[in-house]
Amino acid sequence: SIKIAIIGSGSTYTPELIEGMIRRKNVLPIGELVLMDIDERKLRVVGELCERMIRAADVPCKVVMTQDLDEALRGADFVLGQIRVGKLPARVLDEKIPLKYGLIGQETCGIGGFFKAMRTIPVMLHIAERMKELCPDAWLINFSNPAGINTEAILNHTGVKMMGLCNVPYNMFKSIRESLQLDWPRIEYVGLNHLSWITAIEQDGKDYLKTALDMGLNSEAMKNIPSSGFSKELIQMVGAIPSSYLEYYYFKNKKLKIVQETELSRGEKCIQIEEDLLGIYADSKLHTKPELLSSRGGANYSEVAISLVDAIYNDKQEIHVVNVLNNGALDFMEDTDAVEVCCVVGKDGAKPIKLEGFDNRHIIDYMRMVKAYERETVAAAVSGSEDAAMRALLMNPLVGDYDAAYGAFQELKEAHRAYLPQF
Ligand code: G6P
Ligand code: MN
Ligand code: MN
Repeated sequence: SIKIAIIGSGSTYTPELIEGMIRRKNVLPIGELVLMDIDERKLRVVGELCERMIRAADVPCKVVMTQDLDEALRGADFVLGQIRVGKLPARVLDEKIPLKYGLIGQETCGIGGFFKAMRTIPVMLHIAERMKELCPDAWLINFSNPAGINTEAILNHTGVKMMGLCNVPYNMFKSIRESLQLDWPRIEYVGLNHLSWITAIEQDGKDYLKTALDMGLNSEAMKNIPSSGFSKELIQMVGAIPSSYLEYYYFKNKKLKIVQETELSRGEKCIQIEEDLLGIYADSKLHTKPELLSSRGGANYSEVAISLVDAIYNDKQEIHVVNVLNNGALDFMEDTDAVEVCCVVGKDGAKPIKLEGFDNRHIIDYMRMVKAYERETVAAAVSGSEDAAMRALLMNPLVGDYDAAYGAFQELKEAHRAYLPQF
């Protein structure tokens, strides 16, 4: 049977995952589930709800709660990574400090996302190192953000088997199928994590992308992004459907203004939601996922994560969008660039599907520009070079100004000192 370890299980999202496991109990014989978190209170409160859910669903699975990483990893088949180094208060700093320098503060984009990468990469590399010793054949399925940059760091700096994931592609596919009323279209998805586009939609030999562009079809608006929406003109000019994270790039000024005028940052709101959720979870009569969880941005994570475990364990050779190394799939990107693309997933992992004849120059150039930032970001995270950090930030389209970048960098570095061993 399967041993699954959830690293960062104190996340209030964990009941989502448990729900996904219960839904697939007939195809995924999970014998042991280890919940690991360094936060004792959240480990217990969330863990006990998970245990009640599992018992109520009659899943014959042993549940272990631990604060010890090695104990969690030993003999695991799947390691699900969902860590948030410095927790939500660190996210709030990433969101608020950049505003003083006229820069957007966001948890995965811009300089906020850069600092999230600086905090997270050292810990992810440590987890990967321990995996090599304690469960060398296990799959690391990581949704710790920034998911794409973490993938690039882990796959280029450790030998573990891993893939990175996000719910954006799943939610975009879902909203497109629903809006166009298509059952099982072939959808082409190209990009980096949180910088992606849908570039083709076909069913029964018919081209539905054109229909979508004519309709000015918007992608889903994620719960955490105050949506300004893309106009039909913009979508037609791009020639593809952008993910809602592109709003930060295409409407940089408008977004900055919205964020500056909003009293509570998203992270501060999430702290409130999280406290409310923990209060609800603590009720020992509760044994299902509460509705309030759907006010977080991670909707459908469970489906994405557990369907991947299923595809690997049962060698399903199914198409999923995940973050992996490009390895020639996109001829305009380097082999070692982590990209978020359609992959065939089975027991040997995720193989990116080669994209033939792709010629949307805007998307190609945009991806290459942001990848240049991401590559230098990984270099800075691993080496602790402040020069690399500044080179990265100058290349990020949401930063790009030396004085602003330098000032915000220094202040964020001090604010996050406890979590930045490399600097
Ligand atoms: C989306 C993104 C995730 C992100 C989440 C944030 O789901 O794909 O990468 O973690 O939103 O949601 P939150 O409720 O924390 O703002
Ligand atoms: Mn096993
Ligand atoms: Mn995501």
